Amino acid sequence: MTLRPETRDDWPWLWHWRHEEEDPDWKRWDSPFLHEQTHTLTFSEFTMRRGLNARLGAIIEHDGRPVGYVTRGELAPLGGGWWDWGIVIFDPADRRNGVGTRAGRLWIDDTFRRTNAHVLTLTTWSGNDAMIATGESLGFVECTRIPEARLWQGTRYDSVQMAMLRRDWSFEPRH
Ligand SMILES: CC(C)(COP(=O)(O)OP(=O)(O)OC[C@H]1O[C@@H](n2cnc3c(N)ncnc32)[C@H](O)[C@@H]1OP(=O)(O)O)[C@@H](O)C(=O)NCCC(=O)NCCS
Repeated sequence: MTLRPETRDDWPWLWHWRHEEEDPDWKRWDSPFLHEQTHTLTFSEFTMRRGLNARLGAIIEHDGRPVGYVTRGELAPLGGGWWDWGIVIFDPADRRNGVGTRAGRLWIDDTFRRTNAHVLTLTTWSGNDAMIATGESLGFVECTRIPEARLWQGTRYDSVQMAMLRRDWSFEPRH
């Protein structure tokens, strides 16, 4: 399992999972209450809008093929030291074999090494047991829970944030 920068060659694959595939499983877990309002792009619209910013995202590769994506972004004000990260493994067939945890560990390590992040959060919801378990496996601790803030298919769920402080992160050994 490796993380690598996105290239233009990844765009057909990324567009397929983000826009072409109808009702993909990952959107039921990754803040589904937000996807209902997102706009489906054609491939040419996607390529026109997509910039390559290796600092803010990376492709998760497993067994020599792309399986997912990690992202990060700094919250305002820039330079304040609060970053948030996210992860998706698009095909359910590629989940539950440790890739999410391994990719998360590499990405968090990279984030603490390359940025001034003082604290790193992940933002999810109480219906996403997989993301909460992944956060716990990585040592993240729940820091915010807004009760019943998210409405999805007639049921209310909590909005959940988990956090890791730089001083609590065990850096990966460098080779
Ligand atoms: C969240 C996600 C990245 C986890 O990736 P993964 O490769 O399946 O995770 P792992 O195999 O490393 O498992 C990590 C932990 O989650 C647990 N887990 C995984 N899927 C689970 C599920 N569906 N229900 C409950 N626990 C689950 C594993 O048992 C493991 O726990 P452990 O360390 O205590 O044994 C993946 O499920 C995913 O991409 N989901 C769709 C998109 C999404 O929800 N992204 C997050 C948005 S906030």
